[in-house]
Amino acid sequence: MDPKPASASESRLTWIVAPQDLNINGTLFGGQLLALMDRVAAIAAMRHARRNCVTVSIDKVDFVAPVRHGFLLDLVARIHFTARTSMEIYVDAWAESPHTGERTHVCEAFFSFVAVDEQMRPTPVPPVGLETERDRRLNREAKSRYDARKAARDAR
Ligand SMILES: CC(C)(COP(=O)(O)OP(=O)(O)OC[C@H]1O[C@@H](n2cnc3c(N)ncnc32)[C@H](O)[C@@H]1OP(=O)(O)O)[C@@H](O)C(=O)NCCC(=O)NCCS
Repeated sequence: MDPKPASASESRLTWIVAPQDLNINGTLFGGQLLALMDRVAAIAAMRHARRNCVTVSIDKVDFVAPVRHGFLLDLVARIHFTARTSMEIYVDAWAESPHTGERTHVCEAFFSFVAVDEQMRPTPVPPVGLETERDRRLNREAKSRYDARKAARDAR
């Protein structure tokens, strides 16, 4: 398969934090943020593979800052690593004040997806074409996460 550039599947999702998204502190519930991040990462994976994709692992979720009610959430998902049937997608989350436009980095995580066929069997994905210095750095780091996940599964 020919490589596909990372930019071709980059995906974005914008959300306004409403009352049903809040935790008991009145800020965005972490599970809701993760669900949105999983959704935008799945869109990037499906655009890359042009297949249905399922989440198999989420690594290194860092909640850096709370998100207030009424703020805008801006999520960006970009692929930086592929193996045979799996991919790793980096998702970056920003909160934006709707009144001032000031943006704060609030969360990041690495999502692993597997492309599946109609019978839910893993199916090959195109290699990713790395375009930026960050793509190349994340790609180098992803290989060790991929190897560590595989070793952990083999040890089960
Ligand atoms: C995805 C799934 C079909 C893979 O089945 P499997 O029997 O593990 O398949 P394989 O062992 O052949 O592995 C297939 C690929 O998945 C990757 N993989 C499997 N489990 C993984 C895990 N926990 N983390 C990261 N990658 C994983 C393997 O590395 C392999 O990737 P590669 O081909 O790029 O090397 C199966 O794990 C599954 O259905 N999981 C549930 C997915 C789901 O429902 N997600 C929604 C959230 S609950």
